[in-house]
Amino acid sequence: MGKPVVLVAEELSPAGIAVLESDFEVRSVDGADRGQLLAAVTDVDALIVRSATKVTAEVFQHAKKLRVVARAGVGLDNVDVESATKAGVMVVNAPTSNIVTAAEHAIALLLATARNVPQGHGALKQGEWKRSRYTGVELQGKTVGVLGLGRIGVLVAQRLAAFDMNVIAYDPYVQAARAAQLGVKLVTIDELLRDSDFITVHLPKTPETLGLIGDKELHRVKPSVRIVNAARGGIVDEEALDLALKDGRVAGAGIDVFSTEPCTESPLFHHDNVVVTPHLGASTHEAQEKAGTQVARSVKLALSGEFVPDA
Ligand code: NAD
Ligand code: MLT
Repeated sequence: MGKPVVLVAEELSPAGIAVLESDFEVRSVDGADRGQLLAAVTDVDALIVRSATKVTAEVFQHAKKLRVVARAGVGLDNVDVESATKAGVMVVNAPTSNIVTAAEHAIALLLATARNVPQGHGALKQGEWKRSRYTGVELQGKTVGVLGLGRIGVLVAQRLAAFDMNVIAYDPYVQAARAAQLGVKLVTIDELLRDSDFITVHLPKTPETLGLIGDKELHRVKPSVRIVNAARGGIVDEEALDLALKDGRVAGAGIDVFSTEPCTESPLFHHDNVVVTPHLGASTHEAQEKAGTQVARSVKLALSGEFVPDA
């Protein structure tokens, strides 16, 4: 009998590939190419993805031998977990692999929007010395509203507290005592919208959170607010944000994730006070190495029928 086959549908760190190659036949495919993916999954035992591969019911119908789907990262919103369960396929992820990296990226976007770093950089490289045009704001003494006080939200809150910011958060699933230990005040979403000078989103994408920051909410914020979304596209409604920026109801935004990805054109790109990155939240060497090796180990355990602990 041949070795079990692992199909890698998106870039995985060399360290992760090395862990897999010792026990399995490793194949690769471009998971964003639907036709190729459906053809390639038919005889594999495990499938490894990041966020570009949509692992839907259709994939499970084609993948008759599949035993495990592994997500080399945090969010599982691109994997239909219900269909996986029906098909008897285990779903694993690497829930802590990139949390520091993602938190640092959210803070990079927040600082970039506060101080117009990309705008000043772009202008200067065009030979323009524009000091007054890019006057920014300080973080010290300002209120930051963290939406979602989970693994990444906590890291962001701790780091922004070191900038002497007043940290508030909305997360109905977190105990007030736990938040207080972190020096964070839990508030309602209305209070967060009303009081924040910066809002940073760290929620999973679920039916409940999709469009959570929409037109109605963006009519309740301070006009000086700067909004960062390095969680999932669509939690901050892009059309509503575009309108709010046009009307001057929001002072700036830092956006890493989009409702449709890859996203190479968006009305948001036309605002000088919007800083964007192409879903780089998890993109450091350290995080990718951790994500690759953690999922590779989980796939090994799953294929040998062993218990897979939370990494
Ligand atoms: P987590 O599960 O640890 O935390 C999420 C928090 O959101 C939890 O505390 C939960 O109680 C809260 N929450 C859930 N539903 C809510 C709701 N309706 N209202 C308010 N709070 C709610 O997740 P995490 O590891 O902190 O990741 C957060 C997000 O960041 C995920 O969407 C993940 O996919 C995304 N992420 C993005 C990148 C990137 O590359 N941009 C990298 C890593 C993670
Ligand atoms: C995640 O949820 O882990 C991120 O979006 C990162 C990624 O897709 O690699």
